[in-house]
Amino acid sequence: MTTAILSALPDEQTGLHALLDQPQSVQHAGRRFLQGHLHGHAVVLALSGIGKVAAATTATALVERFGARRIVFTGVAGAIASHVRVGDVVLGSAFMQHDMDVSPLFPRHVVPSYGRSQFDADEALNASVFIAINDYLQASKGKIVHHFRSPTVHAGLIASGDQFVSSAAAVQKLRAELPKALCVEMESAAVAQVCHDYAIPFAAIRTLSDRADDAAHVDFAEFIQTVAGPYAVGIIGQWLKNLPLPAA
Ligand code: ADE
Repeated sequence: MTTAILSALPDEQTGLHALLDQPQSVQHAGRRFLQGHLHGHAVVLALSGIGKVAAATTATALVERFGARRIVFTGVAGAIASHVRVGDVVLGSAFMQHDMDVSPLFPRHVVPSYGRSQFDADEALNASVFIAINDYLQASKGKIVHHFRSPTVHAGLIASGDQFVSSAAAVQKLRAELPKALCVEMESAAVAQVCHDYAIPFAAIRTLSDRADDAAHVDFAEFIQTVAGPYAVGIIGQWLKNLPLPAA
């Protein structure tokens, strides 16, 4: 069973690439795919690119060309709900496109022809990822995460759209329209829809890098290098270590 590990940005993939056993790089659809083993499991690493279309193309290639049978996505997001803080981790239980609007033909946010506005994560996969995130946050206390007070994992709705949200007004609007959304980013809902089409399990882990307000872009690059990158390696590593190895 090949697991795809999708990262949003190169700095979130570097640490995973360094740990890959017998890495093989394949160029396809203008993207680099890295095949190999991590902690004894067959994996393929890929970058989603930025935005929903790029992410959907990568996810489709992962399934069609690289035989991925589940996709786990790590990246960063902006906090929307007031109780989630920068440095916390959100595990998506459901995903929607906050910029999908075919009204008045369809209700706001509904994806036409699917008759739904949300795509769900896989429950069993999420249960194992949730444990790995908690294990990792416990083990890394006082290390990478020292400047955040006890980072927490939250499971809930992730809103995706082709927009970097960076104003208090935009956050207020999202909160009013999607009161259950924990955070906002630009890809997961697209990948969730592709995984729904192929009936393969999907999970998305997002470390909160900002509050999606006017200061959202400040220290973004540094956050990815110093926090989100190590989180991705730590959480994915922990999850794969916890998984039973395939029978020889
Ligand atoms: N990813 C990280 N922060 C984000 C934000 N504020 N808006 C959209 N995507 C993001």
